[in-house]
Amino acid sequence: MMKKLRHSFEYLSYDDISELDADDAALLQAARKVTERAYAPYSNFRVGAVMRLANGQLVSGTNQENASFPAGICAERTALSAASSLFPGEPVQAIAISYQHPEGNSHQPISPCGICRQSLAEYELRQQQPIRLILGGQSGKVLVIPAATQLLPFSFSAKDME
Ligand code: THU
Repeated sequence: MMKKLRHSFEYLSYDDISELDADDAALLQAARKVTERAYAPYSNFRVGAVMRLANGQLVSGTNQENASFPAGICAERTALSAASSLFPGEPVQAIAISYQHPEGNSHQPISPCGICRQSLAEYELRQQQPIRLILGGQSGKVLVIPAATQLLPFSFSAKDME
């Protein structure tokens, strides 16, 4: 029999970074700052991602573009690859994502692209604990999403290949 189902998830919205707890605020502040390390000569859109690992270590990533555009990599996947390579097995607790718009307006949060959502989801499933996402521009509203997999409902995973 046909059933109509609904999927939803809860997330938090803050007016400003000052409403976050000290750890989350520090992570977002680091993500804002690390945008300076982006290599984005083609889009000039600089993205920074900083992750806090369970051992307290911070690992950052920025977007790294390429003249062959598809060869570029987003900040989120740069950070994930760094964490997995430098600290294998160390769970990622949270990732803060920020950016710097070329024309200067960076007040609204951005959220990860589809490919990064897939990569974050796999990391989360692999470590069997949630990765919180802290999303904010250089100023203004901040969104906190409790788990990366919430951003990719019905995602394809290793389970589908069993
Ligand atoms: N980009 C990221 O690094 N992360 C996102 O979440 C969105 C997009 C990068 C890819 C490209 O270098 C530039 O931003 C413009 O799309």
